[in-house]
Amino acid sequence: MNDLLDLVTRQVAADLRAAPASIRGYLSPDARAARCRTIAELRALARRTVPRPVFDYVDGAANDEVTYARNRSGFERLTLHPRMLVDVSQVDTSTTVLGRRIALPLIAAPTGLTGMTHPDGEAAVARAAHAAGTIYTQSALSSLSIEEVSDRAPGPKWFQLYVLTDRGVVFDWLERATAQGYEALVLTVDVAVAGVRDRDVRNRFSVPPRLTLRSLAQGVTHPRWTAGFVARPRISPGNLRHAGGGPAGHAEYVNRVFDPTMTWEDLSWLREHWAGPIVIKGIMRADDAVRAVERGVEGIVVSNHGGRQLDGVDSSIGALPAIADAVGDRAELYLDSGVRRGTDIIKAVALGARACMIGRPLVYGLGAAGEAGARRTFEILTAELKTALALAGYPRIGELGPDAVS
Ligand code: FNR
Repeated sequence: MNDLLDLVTRQVAADLRAAPASIRGYLSPDARAARCRTIAELRALARRTVPRPVFDYVDGAANDEVTYARNRSGFERLTLHPRMLVDVSQVDTSTTVLGRRIALPLIAAPTGLTGMTHPDGEAAVARAAHAAGTIYTQSALSSLSIEEVSDRAPGPKWFQLYVLTDRGVVFDWLERATAQGYEALVLTVDVAVAGVRDRDVRNRFSVPPRLTLRSLAQGVTHPRWTAGFVARPRISPGNLRHAGGGPAGHAEYVNRVFDPTMTWEDLSWLREHWAGPIVIKGIMRADDAVRAVERGVEGIVVSNHGGRQLDGVDSSIGALPAIADAVGDRAELYLDSGVRRGTDIIKAVALGARACMIGRPLVYGLGAAGEAGARRTFEILTAELKTALALAGYPRIGELGPDAVS
């Protein structure tokens, strides 16, 4: 079956090479990306380009996807209160996070196994983040290793950590991330066990993928993805090459290697192994945010993991105001889950976030058109943010406060 797959993809690649220049131009990643005017359009193009199980792994969420839907409705039910007759000839979207200036209040969230969507995976998204003037957060479960991403993508980066039962691996990651100059550690705390994503269960999504008639059919009907995949397969986590084991469902894999005994007390050993700032990702309650602040963390990501963990929790934007009240200026607050429009960023910043993170929008871009698609994600959101700030009468992002939204 491998031979057949190989044959089909080589034929498709040869046909593409032989196509007239005008068609190749139309099919080029830049042209594909440019055709998309919204994140929703990038999503639709990604849906057509990558095999269904890979798209569902990216797009899907836990169980009935109630929280996933709330992440959108939470933003949609908020109302903006624009100010008129303000000079908006110059709009400044820049801000600082942990002392570093970024061009807009938007950071690339960590996404594991990004190489399943496109072989350039994390490196492509990191380059896109750098081009947009912001920070890339690399997942512990990235397809490319820490060194591969830092070699292939310049610019400031944060490293996201999952704590594994095997602390030797964790210490090794921390040393390597320090050696490569990663500036902050993002400790994700909402994956004590894997959330159950019904789409992945239905698709029998596994790492690495199982070769079945169904997966072969998906490969044949998504030639653009398949050509990249066959040329440079990236199917297992780059930082865990030695992990071994055959194909495993994603949840099964997480439950095998993650440490479910982690508590707040574990932050102390983490401090001993990481000299830079620590950001806790996955906080949804004000009392947990206060616990994090009492343990001296520098940042908190208000996040429900894009609805991929516990289904039925509030939207992140719904949880933000109480957390902002409880934390005040004792730590920087960031928000992710459901950010799809420039106005979403305004709403989050007005309610107390210093910056937002985006996960799926970047992977949709990547699936739609590789690095050009990930760049397009930033271009779309930057343009939307600038227009919305001008229309709202807030030429500087830093002026936004709770009066701008209710
Ligand atoms: C994620 N997310 C995630 N978070 C994390 O801390 N470590 C990880 O390895 C991953 N992996 C991952 C893979 C994929 C495909 C997705 C979509 C998400 C969660 C991510 O960092 C972020 O919290 C959400 O994606 C935010 O929601 P939106 O922007 O996708 O709506």
